[in-house]
Amino acid sequence: SARVFSALAAGGVNVIAIAQGSSELNISFVVEGGQTAEAARRVHAAFQLSKIGGGRSPEAPRTDVVLLGFGRVGRALADQLAARNGGSRVRVVAALDRSGYVFDPRGLSRQRLLRLAQGKDQGALLAALGGRKAGAAEALAFIASHAVSRPTLVDVTAEETADLLHLALGQGFDLVLANKKPLAGSGQSYQALLAAAAAAGRRIRYEATVGAGLPIIDTHLKLVESGDRVLRIDGCVSGTLGYVLSSVSEGKPFSGAVGEAVDKGYAEPDPREDLSGRDAARKGLILARLLGYAGSPPAAEDLVPPALRRVPLPDFLRRISSLDEEWRSRVARAAARGHVLRYVVSATSRGVRAHLAEVPADSPIGALRGTRNLVSFTTRRYRAEPLVITGPGAGAQVTAAGILNDIQYLAAT
Ligand SMILES: NC(=O)c1ccc[n+]([C@@H]2O[C@H](COP(=O)([O-])OP(=O)(O)OC[C@H]3O[C@@H](n4cnc5c(N)ncnc54)[C@H](OP(=O)(O)O)[C@@H]3O)[C@@H](O)[C@H]2O)c1
Repeated sequence: SARVFSALAAGGVNVIAIAQGSSELNISFVVEGGQTAEAARRVHAAFQLSKIGGGRSPEAPRTDVVLLGFGRVGRALADQLAARNGGSRVRVVAALDRSGYVFDPRGLSRQRLLRLAQGKDQGALLAALGGRKAGAAEALAFIASHAVSRPTLVDVTAEETADLLHLALGQGFDLVLANKKPLAGSGQSYQALLAAAAAAGRRIRYEATVGAGLPIIDTHLKLVESGDRVLRIDGCVSGTLGYVLSSVSEGKPFSGAVGEAVDKGYAEPDPREDLSGRDAARKGLILARLLGYAGSPPAAEDLVPPALRRVPLPDFLRRISSLDEEWRSRVARAAARGHVLRYVVSATSRGVRAHLAEVPADSPIGALRGTRNLVSFTTRRYRAEPLVITGPGAGAQVTAAGILNDIQYLAAT
């Protein structure tokens, strides 16, 4: 019994009641409902039962990945994880969508994941592809009640998932996020998530939230770890806005550039989501919070004039060409000064700005084309010449690769 209770104490699990018979072979105890999964895992680990089905613990424990979301990025990630399964100690045990979940505690094979992805490509729901119908909270509770090993929840939705993430932390999951929303709400909700992770002894990684697969958050961590101090982070972090603004700088009408961004799948079906600057501002906020900013989310400069913000989408698309002339003259005025227009976010410990800026055409930001992102770090060491990271800032494959790095980091440490 000493082994059981020291394992529980080490995991911060509070024991409410104990009943022990005359035999050493059985013991019953009561813990809070929310701590049962963690308690089971701690006891299994103490008695080397953490390997599913019992028996000795493997030398290096497995990391069991649960995908919260099985859309474009979730499917690309599942394939990248499954492709490297030989010898890897990371495997996908479950995938969730809005309808329900598919779970196999022994790991979902690459063939199974491929079939699920094909089914989703054709518009089917996981609940109808051999899965179970359930809400995400119910699915997580069911998965956590199994002896999953080092469970890691990957949030690849685009929803407000903070409540689910709190639940998952309580059930012993580490978190990897591509979804910005849980990190870009009020200062209070952001701090609450970090505090919940710390209290549960869990970790949160979120490289893919800014710059997709580019190593932005990782670079910040490495700069800080090496004793540097990051003073500000500036950049172009919206592939859609980058595409639209570099196209208008090259002479394309604004309406045509926006239409192309939608057709090529860079923009949301309603491009005002991107043109509002809200998504770029969320990324700026995540960066500012890395620098210690504790305030509320910033207001972004909206590229859609107020009169067109609330009209139905077809009306907006019909009337967008009325903006072309204004954009043409803005671009011409900037060009006369040797400048181009770019949507820039600037993050410091004091705040965030997300706005349309005129930058020299021959500067690194001015030279950006298409959907490429660029992020520059001004630090104590990189002061006169900032450290710059640039490259593709969107796309399911590169985003999945960024997530994979986070998963590997958690699995290895
Ligand atoms: N695509 C990129 O290039 C890129 C780059 C960087 C970051 N990201 C971020 O990555 C995330 C995913 O992007 P995506 O392009 O893969 O989006 P997506 O194709 O729309 O996929 C979203 C997935 O989340 C699922 N989902 C939504 N609400 C859910 C819930 N309550 N419970 C369980 N599952 C739920 C959806 O289920 P259904 O299938 O049932 O609808 C869908 O499978 C987003 O936050 C995005 O901002 C994307």
